[in-house]
Amino acid sequence: MNLLEVYKLWDIEPVKGLDTALWDKDGVEYTDLYGGHAVISIGHCHPHYVEMLSTQLHKLGFYSNAVQNSLQKQLAVKLGKVSGYDDYKLFLCNSGAEANENAIKAASFQTSRERVLAFSKAFHGRTSGAVALTDNPKIQSAFNKGHKVTFVPLNDIEAVKKELAGRQYAAVIIEGIQGVAGIFEPEDGFLKSLRQECDKTGTCLILDEVQSGYGRTGNFFAHQHSGIRADIITTAKGMGNGFPIGGVLLSPAIKAEYGMLGTTFGGNHLACTAALAVLDVIENEHLIENAAKIGEYFKEAFRDDAAIKEYRGRGLMIGLELKEEFIGLRDRLLFEEHFFTGAAGAAVIRLLPSLTISKETAGRFVKSWKKLTSQK
Ligand SMILES: Cc1ncc(COP(=O)(O)O)c(C=O)c1O
Repeated sequence: MNLLEVYKLWDIEPVKGLDTALWDKDGVEYTDLYGGHAVISIGHCHPHYVEMLSTQLHKLGFYSNAVQNSLQKQLAVKLGKVSGYDDYKLFLCNSGAEANENAIKAASFQTSRERVLAFSKAFHGRTSGAVALTDNPKIQSAFNKGHKVTFVPLNDIEAVKKELAGRQYAAVIIEGIQGVAGIFEPEDGFLKSLRQECDKTGTCLILDEVQSGYGRTGNFFAHQHSGIRADIITTAKGMGNGFPIGGVLLSPAIKAEYGMLGTTFGGNHLACTAALAVLDVIENEHLIENAAKIGEYFKEAFRDDAAIKEYRGRGLMIGLELKEEFIGLRDRLLFEEHFFTGAAGAAVIRLLPSLTISKETAGRFVKSWKKLTSQK
């Protein structure tokens, strides 16, 4: 059997990692400023993470959700405390798309409404409801297009007001910071008004923090910079540092009835252990503060950079929009300087490093960037 080809692959195979370093099968070292798409939050193979997962694997890897699992309860308490949402309920699943799928379902159960409002350029995943909320017709099948979804421009509160006025929307879903689109932030004032409009019209506000959450922006969730609270928050990526896990945080006002949501693998012993280890390291190593600090360093280092048309983002969720003549820089950073970065189209380089990144590593990247761009 052959694999279904779904991605354009680089001819590099990482086989070993430690913190922000990766080694390929020929022993060549790379620096990872991409984290496998914002997944690596506490660094590759963090010793505490490896130790906790290895210990749990020797005890019990999995049992179904038909029995008690105190690791789930520990995770709910710890996540509530670290995120500031300690009065919310946690539903555990396996991925970002699945978290969003369950969030929409909970909102629809709550309101008995079917429509969802999403934003232009949004990405919420590839399962049926999540991809219908993703503003990219190329990845939606005819079946997915059957959902009742409207897209309005990001930061356009008048367009939101007009749509919500009829009280027919179950939810508005918005990314804490749009990631796949190329790093676009909802304005603080927009989020505050969005919160008010949702309250006025009985619409659930879902914050998709799958990419922007878990401390990446210098707050636990990106929307917390604006001071608002969401009705439902979804998380995944950084939550397990590579172990698949997703979560839906539901406000106490949401009547999440017994049996409403369910999963076989969600919240299994290994996934909860990975997520607990991640939260330990985030707390013990003050990684949210580090994300804010290194984010400021990058912002300063790239101020007035000759290759950059626009610097976007917060903390360690960064979009560097290149001037036309520098397109192609990402490949040079990888093949000549051995830095993994992300992209959004050809013109935007995305930096989504582990929250453990040191000033020294950030500095090495800036030096390589300046070297390549000055040679142009
Ligand atoms: C904001 C956001 N939501 C949801 C998803 C989907 O997550 P997953 O690939 O784990 O299903 C992604 C993935 O990139 C994302 O960036």
